[in-house]
Amino acid sequence: MMGFIRKTDLRGRGQALFVILCLFKLSSVTGQARYSVPEEQAEGSFVGNIARDLGLDVARLKSGKARIITKENRQYVDLNRDKGTLVIKERIDREELCGKTTPCSFSFEVILENPIQLYRVTVEVIDVNDNSPSFPKDETSLNIVENAPAGTRFLIESAFDPDVRINDITKYILKPVDHFKLEVQNQPDGGKAIEMVLQNPLDREKEETHTLVLIASDGGEPHRSGTVRIHITVLDINDNAPVCSQPVYKAEVKENSPEGTVVTTVSANDADTGVNGEVTFSIAHVTREVKLLFEVNVKTGEIKVAGKLDFEKSNTYQLNVKASDQGGYSDMCKVIIQIIDENDNVPTIQLMSFAISISEDSPLGTTIAVINVDDVDSDGNGVVKCSIDSDMPFKIESSLTGYYTIVTDNVLDREIIPEYNITVTVSDQGSPPLTSRKQINVKVSDVNDNPPEFDLSEYSKTLPENNSPGFSVFTLSARDADSGQNARVSYFLEEKEVNGAAVSSLVSVNSESGVIHAVRSFDFEQIKSFEFNVTARDAGSPPLSSVATVRLIVQDQNDNPPQVLYPVQIGGSLVAEMVPRSADVGYLVTKVVAVDVDSGQNAWLSYKLQKATDRALFEVGLQNGEIRTIRGVTDKDAVKQRLTVIVEDNGQPSRSATVIVNVAVADSFPEVLSEFTDYTQDKEYNDNLTFYLVLALAVVSFLFITCLVVIISVKIYRWRQSRVLYHSNLPVIPYYPPRYSDTLGTGTLPHVYNYEVCRTNDSRMSDCKFGTVGSQNVLIMDPSSTGTMQRMQSEKNILDEPDSPLECWTAPTNVTGLVTLLCFRFSFCGCSI
Ligand SMILES: *[C@@H]1O[C@H](CO)[C@@H](O)[C@H](O)[C@H]1NC(C)=O
Ligand SMILES: *[C@@H]1O[C@H](CO)[C@@H](O)[C@H](O)[C@H]1NC(C)=O
Repeated sequence: MMGFIRKTDLRGRGQALFVILCLFKLSSVTGQARYSVPEEQAEGSFVGNIARDLGLDVARLKSGKARIITKENRQYVDLNRDKGTLVIKERIDREELCGKTTPCSFSFEVILENPIQLYRVTVEVIDVNDNSPSFPKDETSLNIVENAPAGTRFLIESAFDPDVRINDITKYILKPVDHFKLEVQNQPDGGKAIEMVLQNPLDREKEETHTLVLIASDGGEPHRSGTVRIHITVLDINDNAPVCSQPVYKAEVKENSPEGTVVTTVSANDADTGVNGEVTFSIAHVTREVKLLFEVNVKTGEIKVAGKLDFEKSNTYQLNVKASDQGGYSDMCKVIIQIIDENDNVPTIQLMSFAISISEDSPLGTTIAVINVDDVDSDGNGVVKCSIDSDMPFKIESSLTGYYTIVTDNVLDREIIPEYNITVTVSDQGSPPLTSRKQINVKVSDVNDNPPEFDLSEYSKTLPENNSPGFSVFTLSARDADSGQNARVSYFLEEKEVNGAAVSSLVSVNSESGVIHAVRSFDFEQIKSFEFNVTARDAGSPPLSSVATVRLIVQDQNDNPPQVLYPVQIGGSLVAEMVPRSADVGYLVTKVVAVDVDSGQNAWLSYKLQKATDRALFEVGLQNGEIRTIRGVTDKDAVKQRLTVIVEDNGQPSRSATVIVNVAVADSFPEVLSEFTDYTQDKEYNDNLTFYLVLALAVVSFLFITCLVVIISVKIYRWRQSRVLYHSNLPVIPYYPPRYSDTLGTGTLPHVYNYEVCRTNDSRMSDCKFGTVGSQNVLIMDPSSTGTMQRMQSEKNILDEPDSPLECWTAPTNVTGLVTLLCFRFSFCGCSI
């Protein structure tokens, strides 16, 4: 500082000289001095020795009351009159005094009185680097769009330094310089224009803000500097397209997922901010069909199912999801959606070809049906297994993929199972598996493999003899297990001979119905049984047949009465057995011998004594027909003994025959002869005696009742007659009972008179139930109508006999009411009532 001042002082001396010279040229100013002094000197600092420089004596200064006159309102310098020096009175700030003007000086006058002398003093103020450059603000902000091109200029307010010259701002420095460089241009007014020039483009997405420091420094010694911080905000522009988070999204979704099922969510990033960074999603570049299946949330990018997904239609979809921002930038996100198969399709069964019926003799392996199975599902869901019921004579074979054939695996027999329902079951291997079934109806067609079969191989049938021709004996029936023509059975009689006659003359077989008829009436006594074969034959081709043997047994009927072989009955001749009066008890008189051509029970004969002159004398052996005495013969016993023995068989009804055995109880033949002369009349008398007695009783009763009726009638008639006469005096009309008035007429007749009286004199022709003695004829008690007819016929014959003395009184045929026919036959065989 001292050095500096000295130097200034030296220089100031030189200057002061110059100033004085100048002052002298001026008329008004006695002299002048010039000094230079650095600014900011402390008060009292020496400026210059004015006394010496102006050549004035210090005393003069005092006497002249030297003082400083200044026109300015501030006085920086004071005058020390004692020393004749100028000193700093007030701190001088050059910048305040002159600003940027240079050189900077101020002037004042020093005035002396007695005489007045005016001296001018000029003080030049020398700059000192006492100010730092300064920017208007410490910090400043700039907003720069990120796409500003390189070379774009940004003006920065320059710094200011009040110092001048070297102490003024000499340079600007910008840090850092990676984006901007600094350009400083001198302005015509001496100022400086500072510009930042963009060198490397900004990217908001890399660095959103930058902070630069601009330093302005002066050339003083030491340097002084000022800084400003420049905050640069990079403004976003939509310079970034959205970017999908993943280039390809892969998602899986089950088919048949309900609408709204979230498939996946796509996302996209946009490096831009704000509106520029807002991304929306849409599905682009897909077919309409796919657009209907999926929807994407515009904002969130969530992809949802919007339709019915069917794996079988398409198992994968590719969606292009467009992510767009507002500025038209977009990215395409690929979404590959795999549809997961669900077992939602039942397997299908299709009959490709099919035999409705199959012959029962088809060989093993005959194809019945070809079926096609299919399942549109995939993997396990589409793998099918085909099966049929195992209990059937069929098996299923796989031929081509998806094709199966059903073939016979066993022997078929229509007669056991005529029809099959084959159930084809197809199931896939999904979880749970789906199954479908199809029923195939296969009919087994008939082959003539079964002959007709009789229930038995031999039949044994009985038929009673005396059958009517055409009598149906029984029905043969053979069954044939086949069907249709193969089961149509016809019957044929096999020809053969039976007892020399063709069997067809005995029986016939209805070929359709199998009914066996007897061709003629059989007689057990001629043919007892016979056999024949009947063939049953079906109508198949070739026909099958089987044979049954039929044995017909003719059953005996009791159609033959016993026949008495002994004793022989010949007309009226009389044969008598002799019994000596000396015969003992149990004497065998004779033996009745009879036979019966029937057989069995029908020929089992029994003998009974029907009538005898003396029942106490004889008995007949029930089984053997032996007539024996049961007591000793006495002299009182009649010579002539007459026994009637009845021989009966054991049939149902039984038939019988009677035989009359004459027995003579005598010791000599002439005794016998005399007794047997009027045998016939005696016999008839005995037989009819009972009958005649009954008849006589009936006639007497009849006559009595008739008489009673007549008497009562006459009595009543007379009583009435008397009353009429008494009351009216009318002529008396004779009264005849109806019986007499209409004897032969056709009028009504009280039934009590309605008799038919028949009289015959031949008692042997009598209809009454008395076996005629000695007759072989026995009344047939046949309940059948023919029997009755025959009997009626015979009765009529008797009545019609012209030589029979008949007295008939016949009732008119048109009589109404019950006609009672009473027939009395009177036989006056030498007896009288
Ligand atoms: C087969 O099925 C049909 C109809 O479903 C039925 O009428 C018939 O009786 C069945 N046959 C057998 C042998 O099951
Ligand atoms: C019936 O036929 C069988 C063989 O078919 C034979 O042995 C038998 O003698 C025949 N019988 C008659 C009565 O013809």
